[in-house]
Amino acid sequence: MYFITNNSYNNMMAKRIFLFGLILCGVLSSKASSETDTFVPGACWPDNHGIHINAHGGGILYDNGKYYWYGEHKTEGEAGNVANAGVHCYSSKDLYHWTDEGIVLTVMPDSSGSDIEKGCILERPKVIKNAKTGKYVMWFHLEPKGKGYKGALSGVAVSDKATGPFLYLRSVRPNAGSFPVNVQDVHKRASKATGRTFDGGSLPEHVDSLNILGRDFETGQMARDMNLFVDDDGKAYHIYSSEENSTLHIAELTDDYLNHSGKYKRCFAGRFMEAPVLFKKDNKYYLMMSGCTGWAPNAARSAVADSVMGTWKELGNPCIGEDAETTFHSQSTFILPVHGAKNQFIYMGDRWNPSNAVDGRYIWLPIEFSNGKFTIKWHNKWHFNKKIN
Ligand code: GAL
Repeated sequence: MYFITNNSYNNMMAKRIFLFGLILCGVLSSKASSETDTFVPGACWPDNHGIHINAHGGGILYDNGKYYWYGEHKTEGEAGNVANAGVHCYSSKDLYHWTDEGIVLTVMPDSSGSDIEKGCILERPKVIKNAKTGKYVMWFHLEPKGKGYKGALSGVAVSDKATGPFLYLRSVRPNAGSFPVNVQDVHKRASKATGRTFDGGSLPEHVDSLNILGRDFETGQMARDMNLFVDDDGKAYHIYSSEENSTLHIAELTDDYLNHSGKYKRCFAGRFMEAPVLFKKDNKYYLMMSGCTGWAPNAARSAVADSVMGTWKELGNPCIGEDAETTFHSQSTFILPVHGAKNQFIYMGDRWNPSNAVDGRYIWLPIEFSNGKFTIKWHNKWHFNKKIN
């Protein structure tokens, strides 16, 4: 349930608020946090210090009455796209006003030789809490320093507190030595891709004709853009773009969430889905994803299933209206079920700014449900019509 103000007066006001936000960026003090309770997608979003929130490619954990927003800490300029600091966390009770909790996973110093050495690529961090162990577990996409995007690793870190510090444990290519539950005969034959690497968002042949899964069977599967999902039974899943980005894997984690269990499913083979987000409403599982065009936005995709590993049925672009074909100039990073509000889900996207990474903006929009699908429409500004906790 939300209020939207969309008439031309409010368009003008939204522009003013946007400009006002720009001026505020990094300049003003905590006065910024006394702004009304309103989401203004794409505007500068000041934290409690008046500084634009720095948590890109992020996700949110709800824990003990508070929301924790974790994301990539970016720095200025093009060089700010790599990890120069680590994972930044903010906390909030109402989702509008965010308190800076600092860097909760810190990259290691230059020349330390660590996988998470300063200058590595550390993207799309997500944190879940394990009810059995009481630990906070973070997974992220990791590319060791100086190797571009060839590593395709998943890193894992753990903490006793939501606000860290998180201890980096290791990085892996998931599910080494395990075939997916929907393995085909072709994957067990010799791979035409052995010894070959490929770039970006396409392959010279269908992924199954090349048998990239078979190529990576022993060393583990590639994992780039990713997300996490915890089901009602406490089982957690890691969802990642694999097989040269061509195919999405939905992989079960072990009970402590620190490893992959070896059970996983290949989905959308050859569809090149990135930026995956999995969420659940009324016993239906939904996925939102992007296409594969780097920092440039593209049309989102969506899918529905009756169980977490599918069978998934594609539902098309969930965005409606002007700029739907670019996901309102954004790329999905998370969909937040608002605590205590049964039908309120928030789309969280990144409006990347690769030439000045730190100035990437956040696009938060309400999700609507009808006819077995979810949809997202643009709003200049919006807010909840009731207090949420
Ligand atoms: C996007 C991806 C981002 C980042 C970027 C680099 O497709 O979603 O997380 O990896 O590519 O070009």
